[in-house]
Amino acid sequence: MNGTVPGRFAGQVAAVTGAARGIGAASARRLAAEGASVLLLDVADEHGARVAAQIRDAGGTARYVHCDVATESDWRAAREVVRTEFGGLDILHSNAFVQHAGAAHELDPAAWNRVLAVNLTALHLGVRAFVGDLRDRRGCIVVTSSVHALFGLPGSPAYAASKGGLAALTRQLAAEYGPQVRVNAVLPGPVDTDAWRGLGAEARKRAAAATVLGRLGDPAEVAAVVAFLASADASYVTGASLLVDGGWSVTKDSP
Ligand SMILES: NC(=O)c1ccc[n+]([C@@H]2O[C@H](COP(=O)([O-])OP(=O)(O)OC[C@H]3O[C@@H](n4cnc5c(N)ncnc54)[C@H](O)[C@@H]3O)[C@@H](O)[C@H]2O)c1
Repeated sequence: MNGTVPGRFAGQVAAVTGAARGIGAASARRLAAEGASVLLLDVADEHGARVAAQIRDAGGTARYVHCDVATESDWRAAREVVRTEFGGLDILHSNAFVQHAGAAHELDPAAWNRVLAVNLTALHLGVRAFVGDLRDRRGCIVVTSSVHALFGLPGSPAYAASKGGLAALTRQLAAEYGPQVRVNAVLPGPVDTDAWRGLGAEARKRAAAATVLGRLGDPAEVAAVVAFLASADASYVTGASLLVDGGWSVTKDSP
């Protein structure tokens, strides 16, 4: 894996949500490749178990656990696994998401609530489950927000609100739990995961053209930044929202 720093997370334990696919799977692979024991949390059990098995086959330590991040009892169960099997947690990567599209006045309140629960409230539940460990072990949280924390996305009011909320909550948690716990966010632009694969070649081409680098990002390129923020290399970084968007956002004012 390009840029991997062997042993950077040796002896550390990481939990990654939404780890069965896309950016979460890439993050789990990257943290494990750098020596962390990784707990993969997701609801896509078959995919998640497969990614964990692949990490183990590559020599890493990984365990998949079913966890609907919107359900507090699932977080408690994940904490039990961490306590009994790994001893404690050093890194939480809060990354899972759902999307329900629709103009604000048309979006069903149940869909709105589910998006906010999975994308935003999950971070609150994750903190409730693990902040004791993170404080004790001087750990960190990395949050996957989005460029849509900063820029509108027509047809996705709940998603954009959840991502803006995550950027604000990242700052808040950094203020609240420092100096013991660092908390930072990545704000990805268009990254080549299932979300984009479903949208067709034209949409992908348009998204690629909207970046300065002229292409979609690879999930591993976001994972590399997650690993940086989780590492001692970022020891003086907290409360930050770091764009990982191929320059998508810097052209938004251009004609
Ligand atoms: N791909 C992009 O272009 C892009 C851009 C900006 C931000 N992001 C953000 O990156 C993160 C990851 O996105 P991705 O593109 O890798 O998505 P993805 O669809 O590839 O993976 C999302 C994962 O979340 C899991 N998940 C869904 N609901 C869950 C729940 N209730 N509990 C636990 N897991 C659940 C899914 O099963 C899936 O494995 C998201 O927060 C997304 O908003 C992605």
